[in-house]
Amino acid sequence: MSAAHAIATTPIPAPAPRTIAVAAGDGIGPEIMDAVLAVLSAADPGLGFQPVTVGLEAYRNGALSGFGPEVMDAITRHGVLLKGPITTPQGGGYKSVNVSLRKSLGLYANLRPCVAYHPFIATRHPAMDVVIVRENEEDTYAGIEHRQSEEVYQCLKLITRPGCERIVRYAFEYARSHGRRKLTCMTKDNIMKLTDGLFHRVFDEIAAEYPELAAEHMIIDIGTAKMAVDPERFDVVVAPNLYGDILSDVAAEVAGSIGIAPSSNIGRDCAMFEAVHGSAPDIAGRDLANPSGLLLSAVMMLVHLGRTQAATRVHNAWLRTIEDGVLTADMARAGQRPAVGTRAFAGAVIDRLGQAPRTLAAVDYPAVAVAAPARVDRPTAARTPAAKALVGVDVFVNWDQHPRNPDALGRRLEAMAAPEWRLSLVTNRGVKVYPQGQAQTLCTDHWRCRFVASGPDSATPQAIAALLLRLHAGGLDAVKTENLYTFDGKPGYSQAQGE
Ligand code: NAI
Repeated sequence: MSAAHAIATTPIPAPAPRTIAVAAGDGIGPEIMDAVLAVLSAADPGLGFQPVTVGLEAYRNGALSGFGPEVMDAITRHGVLLKGPITTPQGGGYKSVNVSLRKSLGLYANLRPCVAYHPFIATRHPAMDVVIVRENEEDTYAGIEHRQSEEVYQCLKLITRPGCERIVRYAFEYARSHGRRKLTCMTKDNIMKLTDGLFHRVFDEIAAEYPELAAEHMIIDIGTAKMAVDPERFDVVVAPNLYGDILSDVAAEVAGSIGIAPSSNIGRDCAMFEAVHGSAPDIAGRDLANPSGLLLSAVMMLVHLGRTQAATRVHNAWLRTIEDGVLTADMARAGQRPAVGTRAFAGAVIDRLGQAPRTLAAVDYPAVAVAAPARVDRPTAARTPAAKALVGVDVFVNWDQHPRNPDALGRRLEAMAAPEWRLSLVTNRGVKVYPQGQAQTLCTDHWRCRFVASGPDSATPQAIAALLLRLHAGGLDAVKTENLYTFDGKPGYSQAQGE
């Protein structure tokens, strides 16, 4: 598979000249962005840049989300953002700007090609050429988190059928239009049978529409291990957000260096292009950073914009540069070869515009669109909605009486359940502790109490409200409820461990 196939993405025809929004970002962002814009200006004089401010500087200027409304205006006007990395404060401060941008612009597909450039960039896997298609909006990245008691915090993992269909179909369309042969879906559906189970099921359903492509599923843990030692066995991998995030960093490192890994974030109306790596504060401002990840992201952007001649020129010049042994420190690896700085590397790429690599396969991006967004976003065939029936309720109770005796709690709850409900079980962190729990189970102050309807018509919203009032009157603090539904008679909720 050629590098061209690995890098290309969904082009949209665009007239020249053309302006794009650019955000330098934090840490090494400004220096690698300067380097990349210098190359782009030399390769594609018809491209104009509108700078926008995102990240720490925007935050310090009062934009609490890390970017102001003018940024969204610029991106939606130009359709494209080329973005440097952003420093995300951990454990506090503003939410991830990257996640906010991806979600507010509807950038549902995150494409991360991981290609080996053997022997010019050290890797144990010279034939590696993998594209990871990461779902970009859902999963735990919905960012819905709550603290529910002194001891317990939760994060909601949201997986939706339309979200799965769109990303899985994107992955298959991408594979088909780029001459790829095999798709691997990775989930953890042996544990998360409903959420990851849906992703896997949708993958199987859509795979049937592409009989010419091989399709397989792997559990994410063994899949990641295989990516680390045998990446040549993969072609296109599609995964939910969190797994795709981790897997693509592993794959980028295995291919050679995270400093060279590009990515695109594709939506129906807009797209954002950025390197996979972060703001690297440890080397910021020292002319050490490798601009290649951002430069190859810019190549993806040029292809997306239909500026395929410029994309071909920049990519081939970059290949020739690394072939000529002009490498930044991260690529030169442990002093095996002399290294150049960020600016000198960009200058070397500019010097080689118009040249092709001699050993690596030269790229030649097609001048026509290779994947049709309309085919990805086509509405799913009409489905008959399942018959949904309320059959019970899980009430999460914050109960902190010591010693933590589940039997004592269970007996109190039994007394409060009637007349509409029957207590079926109590769990702590998902493990059944009543009736007949194990003394060894660690119990926190957060108990999931499952009530099921005591009669055919007794499960109603009013009955849930009445139950909550009884719990409150009985001195129990109900911090959250989840209604239990069946869909066409099948439970729409998981069983407890040990149930
Ligand atoms: P990082 O990717 O910034 O750095 C990890 C290691 O790789 C460091 O040793 C760094 O020097 C090196 N490195 C990264 N990019 C390089 C490049 N272009 N050239 C040479 N070496 C490079 O990851 P880290 O340290 O975990 O995160 C730093 C900050 O970046 C955090 O605030 C994080 O939230 C943010 N971040 C932002 C991303 C984005 O904006 N898309 C993605 C990942 C992290």
